[in-house]
Amino acid sequence: PAPPACPHGAGAAGAPPAPELFTWEFATDPYPAYAWLREHSPVHRTALPSGVEAWLVTRYGDARQALADARLSKNPAHHAGSAAAKGKTGIPGERKAELMTHLLNIDPPDHTRLRRLVSKAFTPRRVAEFAPRVQELTDRLIDGFIEEGKADLIHDFAFPLPIYAICDLLGVPREDQDDFRDWAGMMIRHGGGPRGGVARSVKKMRGYLAELIHRKRENPGDDLISGLIKASDHGEHLTENEAAAMAFILLFAGFETTVNLIGNGTYALLRHPEQRAGLEASLAAGESALLATGIEELLRFDGPVELATWRYATEALTLGGQEIAAGDPVLVVLAAADRDPERFADPDALDLSRSDNQHLGYGHGIHYCLGAPLARLEGQAAVATLLRRLPGLRLAAEPADLRWRGGLIMRGLRTLPVEFEPG
Ligand code: HEM
Repeated sequence: PAPPACPHGAGAAGAPPAPELFTWEFATDPYPAYAWLREHSPVHRTALPSGVEAWLVTRYGDARQALADARLSKNPAHHAGSAAAKGKTGIPGERKAELMTHLLNIDPPDHTRLRRLVSKAFTPRRVAEFAPRVQELTDRLIDGFIEEGKADLIHDFAFPLPIYAICDLLGVPREDQDDFRDWAGMMIRHGGGPRGGVARSVKKMRGYLAELIHRKRENPGDDLISGLIKASDHGEHLTENEAAAMAFILLFAGFETTVNLIGNGTYALLRHPEQRAGLEASLAAGESALLATGIEELLRFDGPVELATWRYATEALTLGGQEIAAGDPVLVVLAAADRDPERFADPDALDLSRSDNQHLGYGHGIHYCLGAPLARLEGQAAVATLLRRLPGLRLAAEPADLRWRGGLIMRGLRTLPVEFEPG
């Protein structure tokens, strides 16, 4: 697509010209463009590749404020160009369905009620109890390629791990999980727009989940779907539609994000040998502290969610000195905020031991990532096990030859070819 015009991108006198956004180079390395925006046009109006005009918020302070501002709604009905834009903001193929009433599309008080209900079922304790299963899955996937001495860590590892993990947690029987893997694969391949295959996959997933919820209501188990059905608050329960939308958003929000945490994170480690050696030494000594701060740092350094999901101004407001009109879409650029030198010392350096690290990789405010404990569990298990079991792990491609997906919200690699000493 032709590069979008940047009418407000003139910047200060003498500043270098505004960078082109959403190009090939930008998808590969957006950070120089974000540095320019933070400095010269921190709340920046631009045309997105879809043609929709939106504000990009790139400074840490403004980003945090925007994420917590109740005047910025998640409900697409607040978009001034609502009818025109509707198909471009939601999950592909899902927009006409009941599944739209999920956490990332609603505001309080509905959001408060649904989030409280789901939090009763999706507890940190449930996630902690799931740790042995995540380790088993991680090992099983590595067993699948360890003898070959090479792998594509996206296709063979980062992609299947979260989908099997979430299916297990939800209570999708093992024999059906490969269907989910196929549907999810369709969605991640065509994640940018509503095409036939995606719509069909979403429809199949929706049908399957509705039926599963029905079965679990009759015959509950110890899984998250049964927990969602049972959860009650002041006598209120989730309806079957709400439970289906919730299961769907857990799958959808927890899948590609985690693929990219593992992919981007491993890639960053492979490109920073000293940091990686420090982590390996710490793991070999049986310590876990550097792994924990390290996963947070990998999220800050090159996180999976480049832009937070859409927000719309419900009234005119001022953000970072910029007037925003009612109905305007506002996109908070988490990847730019997390490299803001005003907030992070030496922000372009990867420092796995960084302790002052209030990054925005999981968002902030009432929509803060509900799955963060699960993502941390998966990220830590994945990185630690790859380093432990694959000695000599190295990139088997030139960084310049790697391809990034270039979607608007997510940032992630298409493939991550590696070599190692066969086990
Ligand atoms: C929300 C990031 C993994 C479930 C969010 C948001 C971010 C985020 C930035 C806020 C979006 C916004 O405010 O517009 C991530 C990252 C992950 C990850 C970086 C992996 C590394 C997961 C997992 C799950 C999950 C594993 C569940 C299984 C959710 C849900 C929300 C959410 C349900 C919506 C919460 C709400 O609106 O109240 N996530 N996420 N996420 N995430 Fe995650």
